[in-house]
Amino acid sequence: MPTIIFVAADGTTREVAAATDQSIMEVALGAGVPGIVAECNGAAACATCHCYFDPAYVGHIGEAGEHENEMLDFTASERTADSRLSCQVRIVAAMEGMTVRVPSAQ
Ligand code: FES
Repeated sequence: MPTIIFVAADGTTREVAAATDQSIMEVALGAGVPGIVAECNGAAACATCHCYFDPAYVGHIGEAGEHENEMLDFTASERTADSRLSCQVRIVAAMEGMTVRVPSAQ
């Protein structure tokens, strides 16, 4: 169970031990991390689970698919090179210590 470090928009952090059969969004909601709405419940259709991922882990995070890439154009907070829909990122053991920043608006 890798530990994922969520950083809220106000800078507060929460370390969560994450099961590897979950998405980052599911882990965040389960732990009560503030700022992730996940309106579509993981269907990549709302962009309200947008987060910024630590680029050091990009090899484990993977690339956004075509549909996710299009949805990322509709995020409430600025899209950056580190942006992903957290419902589309699956936890793997190698994510130990990875930081996920939650944007100020969803
Ligand atoms: S929960 Fe809707 S896009 Fe991720």
